[in-house]
Amino acid sequence: MWVVPESDIFTMGLWSISVGALGAAVAGIILANTDYFLPTMEKATLEYLEDAELKSIADDSRKFKAKDLWEKNGAVIMAVRRPGCFLCREEASSLSQLKPELDQLGVPLYGVVKEKIGTEIEAFQPYFKGDLFLDEKKCFYGPQKRKMMYLGFIRLGVWQNFRRAWKAGYDGNLEGEGFILGGVFVIGSGNQGILLEHREKEFGDKANLTAVLEAAKKIKRKNEVH
Ligand SMILES: *[C@@H]1O[C@H](CO)[C@@H](O)[C@H](O)[C@H]1NC(C)=O
Repeated sequence: MWVVPESDIFTMGLWSISVGALGAAVAGIILANTDYFLPTMEKATLEYLEDAELKSIADDSRKFKAKDLWEKNGAVIMAVRRPGCFLCREEASSLSQLKPELDQLGVPLYGVVKEKIGTEIEAFQPYFKGDLFLDEKKCFYGPQKRKMMYLGFIRLGVWQNFRRAWKAGYDGNLEGEGFILGGVFVIGSGNQGILLEHREKEFGDKANLTAVLEAAKKIKRKNEVH
């Protein structure tokens, strides 16, 4: 009787494991690039955001309700994923390009960050033409916090975003929490409501500036309400 030497069985076993692992890895990468594993999104309601407690960056004993930001003239608000992230810096400066038009409309531009560490916020400020506030409870990243972990690094879209921001000369660091995804909101005055809600689908998924500006134009200013 012909007997397969044990070492051959071992080699065959290793091969099948490797082929299996490769197959799983390929399947994993393909799946990771679909929207299948993307964090689900729950839209924020105005009532939810209004109550968010924000703090001044300079003096974190100064607390206020987020509603104050849009009560009179509405607001465009960026929920920054991570101030040290070069993708967020890129998004911040593209949003800041709208600043002259927003000024004309009388609509303020604000940003919120999750945490205050070292000089991260000061280092981010040059990229962003608006005031920044601290959202320690991460309300603007909720109601359901959406996380993208290492999955983000095998998504083609994310690499394309990396490439775009990198070519544009942005750089950053690795300080701070950066897995909870951010976004951009355009909120009307008073109880007008949320006019645009852009949730970052993956790292570096930028808001559509045309849409942001269109939404900002719909904001009713308090002194114009008849
Ligand atoms: C951006 O928004 C505008 C206005 O809503 C829309 O016409 C345009 O197709 C959008 N662009 C992209 C790339 O989605």
